[in-house]
Amino acid sequence: MSFTIAIDGPAAAGKGTLAQALSAHFGFAYLDTGLLYRAVGAGVIAGGDPVAVAQALDPSDLNADTLRTQAVAEAASRVAVIPDVRAALVAFQRSFARRDGGAVLDGRDIGTVICPDADVKLFVTASAEIRADRRFAELTAKGVQTDLAAILDEVRARDDRDQNRAEAPLIAAADATLIDTTSMTAAEALAQAITIVTAKRA
Ligand code: CDP
Ligand code: CDP
Repeated sequence: MSFTIAIDGPAAAGKGTLAQALSAHFGFAYLDTGLLYRAVGAGVIAGGDPVAVAQALDPSDLNADTLRTQAVAEAASRVAVIPDVRAALVAFQRSFARRDGGAVLDGRDIGTVICPDADVKLFVTASAEIRADRRFAELTAKGVQTDLAAILDEVRARDDRDQNRAEAPLIAAADATLIDTTSMTAAEALAQAITIVTAKRA
């Protein structure tokens, strides 16, 4: 039996942290769809054509560590506006969502475009300042030297591009539950999400 949890929201809102914890709690598979766009962005930085890179992408090659830089995030949001890039990534995401045993996908358009019939849709958000603080703390903890003001600018620019593109813009599905994590711990957000998913599964 399939059961799909769709999690969308802006950069560093806590989507991945929540998606991973939910997948562990319920024993579901997890797909970070941002990695698909990041891999295409990285391919373009390396000189590739965005559509050709997207069409040739092998999801088993995705290496989260090398794709987690600000430069790759920025490149990802630039290729993500290209309809043929998005189209090349749809089938893989949909088949992942429908796998037996349950799936959690996080991204920007999961509840709206990829899985409009998802069993549970969550829209996770937080203020841009808090999100930039979180990303800064993450990068600093990894030993990456970075600048908070530059991260805030990058997060805002990316939000703006993601929200205003013509194809699959970042927007909460009408039937999504909003989780604003601005003053929540990751554990509090998880507890709220578990309650929602458990009610839906009953
Ligand atoms: O996937 P997304 O870019 O939305 O965010 P993330 O990488 O899951 O989370 C960004 C950071 O926020 C992580 O370091 C989390 O520990 C932290 N955080 C969270 O995820 N949820 C909260 N309610 C509070 C903090
Ligand atoms: O981790 P963070 O939230 O910062 O970014 P991400 O989820 O890895 O996504 C990187 C970029 O890919 C986003 O800014 C979007 O432009 C794009 N993306 C998208 O368009 N659709 C998705 N389903 C996932 C990501």
